[in-house]
Amino acid sequence: MRTDTAQIVRLVDYRPSDFLIDSVELDVSLHPTATQVRATLVVRPNPDGRPGAPLVLDGDELNLKAVALDGRSLAEEEFEASPQSLTIMQPPRQSFTLTVETELNPTANTKLMGLYRSSGNYCTQCEAEGFRRITYFLDRPDVLAVYTTRIEADRDEAPVLLGNGNPVESGSVEGSNRHYAVWEDPHPKPSYLFALVGGRLGRVSKSFTTMSGRAVELAIYVEPGKEDRADYALDALERSMVWDERVFGREYDLDVFNIVAVSDFNMGAMENKGLNIFNDKYVLASPETATDMDYAHIEAIIAHEYFHNWTGNRVTCRDWFQLCLKEGLTVFRDQEFSSDERSRPVHRIAEVKTLRARQFLEDSSPLAHPVRPTQYREINNFYTATVYEKGAEIVRMLKTIIGNESFRRGMDLYFERCDGTAATVEDFLEAFAEVSGRSLSHFARWYEQSGTPRVTVKSHYDKAAGTYRLDFTQSTPPTPGQPNKEAMAIPVVLGLVAHDGSSVEAACEQVDERGVFILDKAADSLTFTGVTSLPVPSLFRGFSAPVKVTLDLPNEELLVLLQHDSDAFNRWQAAQTVAMRHLAALSNGAQVSDEEIDAFSTALCSFMDTDALRDPAFAALVLTLPSEADIAQEIGKDVDPDAIHRARSDMRRRIGKTCSAHLHRFYEELADSGPYSPDAASAGRRALRNASLDLIAAADQAAGEELAAAQAESASNMTDRLAALSVLTTLPGAAREEAITQFGERYRNEPLVMDKWFTLQAAIPEDDTLERVKGLMEHQAFSIGNPNRVRSLIGSFAMLNQVQFNRIDGAGYDFLASIVLRADELNPQLAARLLTAFSTWRMMESTRREHAQRALWTISRKPNLSRDVGDIVSRTLD
Ligand code: ARG
Ligand code: ZN
Repeated sequence: MRTDTAQIVRLVDYRPSDFLIDSVELDVSLHPTATQVRATLVVRPNPDGRPGAPLVLDGDELNLKAVALDGRSLAEEEFEASPQSLTIMQPPRQSFTLTVETELNPTANTKLMGLYRSSGNYCTQCEAEGFRRITYFLDRPDVLAVYTTRIEADRDEAPVLLGNGNPVESGSVEGSNRHYAVWEDPHPKPSYLFALVGGRLGRVSKSFTTMSGRAVELAIYVEPGKEDRADYALDALERSMVWDERVFGREYDLDVFNIVAVSDFNMGAMENKGLNIFNDKYVLASPETATDMDYAHIEAIIAHEYFHNWTGNRVTCRDWFQLCLKEGLTVFRDQEFSSDERSRPVHRIAEVKTLRARQFLEDSSPLAHPVRPTQYREINNFYTATVYEKGAEIVRMLKTIIGNESFRRGMDLYFERCDGTAATVEDFLEAFAEVSGRSLSHFARWYEQSGTPRVTVKSHYDKAAGTYRLDFTQSTPPTPGQPNKEAMAIPVVLGLVAHDGSSVEAACEQVDERGVFILDKAADSLTFTGVTSLPVPSLFRGFSAPVKVTLDLPNEELLVLLQHDSDAFNRWQAAQTVAMRHLAALSNGAQVSDEEIDAFSTALCSFMDTDALRDPAFAALVLTLPSEADIAQEIGKDVDPDAIHRARSDMRRRIGKTCSAHLHRFYEELADSGPYSPDAASAGRRALRNASLDLIAAADQAAGEELAAAQAESASNMTDRLAALSVLTTLPGAAREEAITQFGERYRNEPLVMDKWFTLQAAIPEDDTLERVKGLMEHQAFSIGNPNRVRSLIGSFAMLNQVQFNRIDGAGYDFLASIVLRADELNPQLAARLLTAFSTWRMMESTRREHAQRALWTISRKPNLSRDVGDIVSRTLD
C-alpha cells in the first residue's frame, strides 16, 4: 500500500501559528469564469509563535495576480508563490498590511469547495479548508479575524448579494450594469466560517425579538417560485432561537440571520456566521414533495446550524482534531431540541437506530477512529458518525453523570470562559470538572479510545436471602492503531421491574437515587437487597451509554419489559433484542420453531391491543424489525446477505400472518383524515399505518399489492405516497412497475422527489437492480455532478441494498468502484463518501470478501487519486 507519511497531520505536532491576522477586507468581483478577489490582510507576528519565521499562507489551486506589502508591490525575490502556498520570506516584525489578488473560475469548480456555482448562483463552502481556494490565508481555525466583504456582480446575474455579519452599504457601480454590497462581521472568526452568496433568489422573512429585546431580521433565500416551501424551515429557525434562549440562555448576536438553499452541496448544511448555506433538501418542504421524515430532518438541521452560532462560532476549535468539540456538542443540542419539540422517547429511539447503523458500524470497521482523532491525511474524511453522533453521546453521558443542574452550570462557565476563543476538548471538560467538583480524567477516555465497548451482564437471584446480583464485565475490541483497550467510565441507568409490572423497590449502594451506576472497572457487581420475587433488570435505560449489551435473560423475561417497563426506550429495545435473536438464528440457518416466533408475534399483538394507539409513532418503531444491515452487524463475520434477506422476509411474513387482524384494523382506523400537518402526532399515525401496510404485504402479497397500489395512486401527501411505493418495491410484478413509472412521470420536474424515486429503485433486492441503476444513470433527472442525485441512486444502492451491492459475483463492488473513480475526477469528497460503503467488506463470507478486495485494489492502483479517496481506500484495505 502507498503510505504518504509526509502528508499525515498529527495532534501532537500542534503549535500556534507564527502569525495572526487581525482583520480581513475582501473585495470580490463575481464573474462566471474570472472572478477577481482582492484580500487586504492586517497581519502581525504571534507572540506565541517562532520569532523571525517566514509568513507561509495556504492556497489550493490558486492563481496569483498581485501581491503587495504595506502598499508596495513585492519584488520577485521577496516572495515565493505556487497554487498551494504563498511565502513572504522576511516579513516585518510588527503589524503590516498584505494585499493579495487572485483570480478564480467558479464555473469550473466541481469540487464544491471554495467559491462555486450552483444552478447559476454563486456560493461558497469553506469548512474545513476551502477558504484557501479563494485567497492565500492562514487557513486554520485558531486564526480569528474580523471581516469586511465587498461583493460586486452583474445586476441581472446576481441581484441578491449576501455576506457574513450585517449589511452596511450597497449601490450601483457607475457606468455599468454592475452593483455591489458591503457586509461587515464584527465577531472575530476563523476563515472556515466565511461565506458569500450572489444570485437570483426568492426570499421569505420574519422579524424576531431576542430575549434582551433586540430585533433580528430572519430570512431564507431559495430558488424563485419555491418561497412557500421555506415556511417550515423559517418556523423551525424561530423555534430554535427561542429554545436556545430558554434552555441554554444563548441569544443571537447580529441584526440579520440569513439562510440560503443551494442544490449542489457536499454535506447537509454549513453554519457560516450570520449566513448559513444549506443543501436545499434540508430547507424545501411541501406536503406534496416532502415526507414526515424530511420535515423532521429540516427542523433538526436548521436547529443544528443555528446552535453552532454559540457552539462552533462564538467558541470555535483550536484545530481540526477538536472537531467533536463543536459537532458532537451541537448534535447533542439539536437532539435535545427535537426531543423537546417532539416525543422524547420516540426521538431517542430514532437517534439510537442511526447511531447503531452508522457509528457502531464505523467503529467495527477498518475506518474506526477516536471521537478526537490523533492524526489525519484528509480532514474532510473525519466528518463522521463517530465525531458527530458518538461525540453527542459523550456529552449526554457527561450530563447523566454530573446531573442536569451541574451540566447547565458547566455550559455557562464554558461559554463565559471560552467565548471568542479557539478551544479544546480539555477546556470543555475543565468547565464541568470545576462546577461539579468531579475528576473527569477517566471519563475523558471516551474521546481517545475508539471501538464500541461490550458490556456483558449476568444475573443471580437468591430467594432465601432476598438478594439480587448483577455481574457486569466490559471490554472493547481492538481497532486500528489501538490493539489494547482500557476500561471505560460507563453510566448505566437502571431499574428492576417485577413480572407483574410493578416496580421493585430494592436497595443497592452503588446505585444513586436517579438509578445511575457508573461502571468504570473491567468487572463489577451490584447486589440489591430486599428483593422478594425474581425481578427483570431494565439496564441502560434511555440508552445511557453507546455500548453493546449482552444480557443472559430469556426471551419471555425480555418481553415482560416490552409490556411493563416504565422506560419507553427499553420497551422498544426488549422487542428488538428478541427479534434480533430470532433473525440472527434464522440467518445462520438455525431452525426457529413456530412456537418461538408465535410467542414473539403474540407479544406484539397484545402490545398492539393495549398500547399502540396511545403512541402510534412508538408502536411503529416496535413493529419494525432490525434492518438487514443491523443483522449483518450483529452476526459480524462470514456474513451471507442473501440468508439475512430470506430470514428477515420470513420473519416479517410470520408476524404479518399472526397479527393480520390487528394490522388491518390499524390500516383502516388510521386512514388519512383532514389536511396534512407535519406535526409529530400526525406523523406517528401515518408511521403506524404504513408499518402495518408493510407487514400486511409481507404476509399476503395480493392484499398488500392492492392496498399499496391504491394508496400510491390516491395519497394526499408524499409520506403516504412514498410509503406505498416502498411497499410495492418489495412485490415484484406489473403493479409495481406501473406505479414506479407513474411516480417518475408525475415528479419529473421535482429533483428532490426524483431522488426518492432513485433511492427506492436502487434498493430493490432483486438481481436486475444493478442494470436498473445503470439505466437510471441515463435518466434526464440524474447527474453525476450533483451530490444529492449521486447519493440517492448510487449511495442508496451501496448502503441500503445489502443483497445486490454484495452480489456473490462481485458485480456490485465493481460497479461502485467504477463510479468512485469517475466521481473522484469531479468531486473527491463525494467519491470518498461513496467509497465508505466498502467498509463492511471484511465481515463478508470469503467469496464476497475476495471480490471486494479486488475492487478496492483496482481503486488503489489508479494514478492521481485524490487525497480523499486515497486515504479511505488505504485505510479500508489495511
Ligand atoms: N459544519 C458543518 C455541519 O454543520 C459541516 C461541514 C462539513 N463540510 C465539509 N466539507 N467537510 O455539520
Ligand atoms: Zn455541525
